[in-house]
Amino acid sequence: MRYFCSPIQLVTNMDYSIEIKGRSEVVVGSAGDHLPRLLPDKRVVVVSDTNIDRHYHSLVNRYDHVLIGLGEASKTLVTADAIYKKFISMGVDRSTFVLAIGGGIVTDVAGFVASTYMRGLEFGFISTSLLGQVDASVGGKNGVNVDGYKNMVGTFTQPRFVICDAGMLRTLPERELRTGMAEIIKAGIIADGELFSILERTPLAELAKNPEMLGEVVYRAVKVKADIVERDERETGDRRKLNLGHTLAHAIEKSSSKMNHGEAVAVGLALISEAAMHRGILSAADRERICGLLRRTGFDLTPPVAMRVLLKAVAKDKKSEGDMLHVVFPEAVGSCRVERMPLDEFSAMFV
Ligand SMILES: NC(=O)c1ccc[n+]([C@@H]2O[C@H](COP(=O)([O-])OP(=O)(O)OC[C@H]3O[C@@H](n4cnc5c(N)ncnc54)[C@H](O)[C@@H]3O)[C@@H](O)[C@H]2O)c1
Repeated sequence: MRYFCSPIQLVTNMDYSIEIKGRSEVVVGSAGDHLPRLLPDKRVVVVSDTNIDRHYHSLVNRYDHVLIGLGEASKTLVTADAIYKKFISMGVDRSTFVLAIGGGIVTDVAGFVASTYMRGLEFGFISTSLLGQVDASVGGKNGVNVDGYKNMVGTFTQPRFVICDAGMLRTLPERELRTGMAEIIKAGIIADGELFSILERTPLAELAKNPEMLGEVVYRAVKVKADIVERDERETGDRRKLNLGHTLAHAIEKSSSKMNHGEAVAVGLALISEAAMHRGILSAADRERICGLLRRTGFDLTPPVAMRVLLKAVAKDKKSEGDMLHVVFPEAVGSCRVERMPLDEFSAMFV
């Protein structure tokens, strides 16, 4: 597998490196192989969670550690404050490098703390969940939730590097693996029809057993995100496309605890595909391909709460600007467009 288009380089026969904004290197390959090359020659402090520490402590055991709790409940200013205090007691200063190892919760919190502690420390990620590898760790957004509102406080700061090691996904629970697949399917719909076709040909169970193929799928999804972030780092234009399916997904996550992020994204993708078909934007065949792949990947596409409850939550979501929304519609497998529309028009598509 060889990809020559700049700024991507092949690191070894199976590994890929993608540069974002000339400041961040995303490597898809073995953490053990690449970490020594990527870590700067300075003090390193590791931020992780208790799960990851149990599985991967030996990879980073020579460094001081700060561990955080599990789940969305840990992605708060309280956790950030606890890390700041721990950093102070450990004598962490501007010359320290923060290495976060974990899923999206760890990288969001650690990226935020590193970007703000003493006005900013250098940091890098070993991304260990599939969702983290293809989405959360890539692109420079970090942050914490406030008062139940997702990602209300944060920064845009690129990590110096992100390592996505498909081999580490072996220890990831199956439900978490599926969660990441929703974002990979989304990436295929947005801009990579071939990635979508690979997923159609390869059932999740087969992909999970094949780290080389999983690595290629991760690489292709990262490339979709990296290309968009390269053009629009601060989400004033094209980056909005990455929100495909997310307006309703965020509403689902806010209104029900039954579904995790990827499961909610899968429902959001199905609903927006249906709406796009009814508006004459997406063909019935492509809508069926999208919903068929989501179903075969194991997603339940029925919203867990009534549509009117979801639409109420959309109205409160931070992405609504006044009563206008930026809505991302799939146009085909591999292409999408953003339309600005009043909230009422958006709601009318689903009732
Ligand atoms: N910053 C962004 O651009 C961005 C984008 C998308 C999502 N996110 C955020 O990402 C978060 C979700 O990330 P997530 O799904 O990775 O959740 P997570 O970090 O909670 O990880 C899921 C679970 O899997 C465990 N885990 C992770 N890697 C493992 C491994 N290799 N082996 C065994 N267990 C492992 C974790 O300990 C955790 O219990 C959300 O808060 C979401 O808002 C951020």
